[in-house]
Amino acid sequence: MMSDRAPVLVVGASGRVGRAVVAELLRLGRPVRALVRRPPPTPSPPGVGVVVGDLTDPDSLTPALAGVEAVFLVWAAGPATVSAVVARLARSVQRVVFLSSPHQTPHPFFRQPNPMAALHADIERELATSGLSSVILRPGMFAANTLHWWAPQIRAGDVVRWPYGAVETAPIDERDIAAVAVRALSEASLAGGDYVLTGPAALSHARQVAVIGEVHGGRRSGIPRT
Ligand SMILES: NC(=O)c1ccc[n+]([C@@H]2O[C@H](COP(=O)([O-])OP(=O)(O)OC[C@H]3O[C@@H](n4cnc5c(N)ncnc54)[C@H](OP(=O)(O)O)[C@@H]3O)[C@@H](O)[C@H]2O)c1
Repeated sequence: MMSDRAPVLVVGASGRVGRAVVAELLRLGRPVRALVRRPPPTPSPPGVGVVVGDLTDPDSLTPALAGVEAVFLVWAAGPATVSAVVARLARSVQRVVFLSSPHQTPHPFFRQPNPMAALHADIERELATSGLSSVILRPGMFAANTLHWWAPQIRAGDVVRWPYGAVETAPIDERDIAAVAVRALSEASLAGGDYVLTGPAALSHARQVAVIGEVHGGRRSGIPRT
């Protein structure tokens, strides 16, 4: 039985999903410990303890894991330390909620060589044999990807050049991923779960760009509404 009073360790706390997980835990009054690689320049919000550690240096995680029962794990490092970090987690905590990807889904993005998919599969295998209670979350395209992919081109003009116009994805808001993650961190009935998460509608990337254009008051694109 996990305690509501033990801090939840959020790895990737400064990232897109991790930030939203921290916010959701705080909203629910749960104590949070945020793993960062460098001490932040400004004080952290009340309720958040900031601890320095790095996934590429498993020993550095020891202070962050003290007294923690559940970990939200984003893996933004290379593969070299996966085994050592998972072994360390297994010695210290009860539950890990891992931010993976839907790499078993037969989507075009996962039908070509994809090193991130291989890394995620490797981490999942390590978690499965570690003895940890783990929950695997597989969100599809993050809604915020649009900011990286298209916002600079939209700011610079009114044409977006992009190789995957016909590919469909169902973008999901990072706050929705976080809401699921926090339930997975807390609810015993979700232990062992493996969840593909999507947004509400599958749209081609061309259509997504067109919607952004229309919302910003651009002329109608003529791209079909699928
Ligand atoms: N984008 C998508 O559509 C999508 C879809 C499904 C799954 N995913 C997966 O989601 C994950 C990325 O999540 P995100 O977008 O929330 O992350 P993000 O915004 O890219 O941020 C990465 C986070 O990881 C931290 N970090 C990087 N290297 C680290 C290390 N060696 N040790 C400890 N922390 C480290 C960063 O901290 P610093 O502030 O120190 O850099 C930052 O907080 C990836 O595994 C990706 O494959 C992405």
